[in-house]
Amino acid sequence: MELPQAGLTAIYPGSFDPITNGHRDVISRASKIAGRLIVAVLKNESKRPLFSVPERIEMMTQVAEEFPNVVVESFDGLLVDYAAARGASLIIRGIRAISDYENELQMALMNRRLRPDVETVFLMAGEQYSFVSSRLVKEIIGLGGDIRGLVPPVVEAKLKDRILGQVERGIAVK
Ligand code: PNS
Repeated sequence: MELPQAGLTAIYPGSFDPITNGHRDVISRASKIAGRLIVAVLKNESKRPLFSVPERIEMMTQVAEEFPNVVVESFDGLLVDYAAARGASLIIRGIRAISDYENELQMALMNRRLRPDVETVFLMAGEQYSFVSSRLVKEIIGLGGDIRGLVPPVVEAKLKDRILGQVERGIAVK
């Protein structure tokens, strides 16, 4: 029997600078819940991202290829307005540890106030990813550490090119 939720469109928003295996795990789980999942890359040039939006979309698209009901887009402006424009009634966010909860709760409740018809759903990535973040991965590789298994292979290659190139040119890695 088909569940009523099978047709729902969900949005999984984030900076994804870059996508980690924790993000990939959340996409895999969310793609089984939603009928259609839109992975939405935030256009946040003010945060001085390591990868441009087109680069992040390219990496994400390669990673998401294995999930037939997942599409990758970018967005700016209010997330809930974007969700409404795309006909999405669910926002997916990944929660790692309790430290993520406070900020995520605040965003979920604010988004609910802005648009009560859009529901936020928290998913837990596998515990093997509970310590993985884009920020730490960038720091580790910049300091010569091993990031194998923390990011998809396509991302590992791009990170090596970008960060090791920056290190060689004497640019500080954030
Ligand atoms: O991966 P991130 O950086 O934790 O994702 C944060 C994101 C994209 C979910 C958040 O910054 C966002 O929703 N930005 C869009 C602007 C917006 O709607 N702000 C109000 C949030 S309550």
